[in-house]
Amino acid sequence: MAHIHLVIGSMLGAAEYVAEHVSALLQQAGHDTTEHNPARLDEVLSDSQGIVLVVTSTHGAGDVPDNLQPFYRDLAARKPDLAGRHYGVIALGDTNYDTFCCAGKALDQLFADCGASRIGDRLEIDVTQHEIPEDAAEQWIHDWIPLIG
Ligand SMILES: Cc1cc2nc3c(=O)[nH]c(=O)nc-3n(C[C@H](O)[C@H](O)[C@H](O)COP(=O)(O)O)c2cc1C
Repeated sequence: MAHIHLVIGSMLGAAEYVAEHVSALLQQAGHDTTEHNPARLDEVLSDSQGIVLVVTSTHGAGDVPDNLQPFYRDLAARKPDLAGRHYGVIALGDTNYDTFCCAGKALDQLFADCGASRIGDRLEIDVTQHEIPEDAAEQWIHDWIPLIG
């Protein structure tokens, strides 16, 4: 059983709904979950055995949502040593933007720069193709759960 810390970036609620859905599915599979919204870096990292699952949309011109900005800025400024830590990324975006899913990609890169290891592939949900983003996330999480052991 693992403890998954969901780090949520959402302006209008879509990513938040995805995180809540995924959290429920993780719990059904026997894992513990904590939803961090807004996420604080120290709080998220205080569980050294925990797995971080970033669930974020992208806003502005490829920007991290406001509620995730403090976490993102702290991580970028402090670059903690996250060797041995594991994380996953679910990114929501719209392919009409050149900056498709840039917030999720930026968080992914930052965690990797800090030495953390991503579990599985990053999920990128194009909201123009998925009227209900939770459905795409549900498929992905079914494949992700066996990877976390
Ligand atoms: C003002 C605005 C700017 C956006 N900018 C981007 C963008 O740069 N890249 C992208 O992939 N999606 C962009 N989107 C699409 C959102 O990421 C998408 O609608 C997402 O589902 C919103 O999730 P949320 O409700 O959790 O914030 C933008 C949406 C809005 C309304």
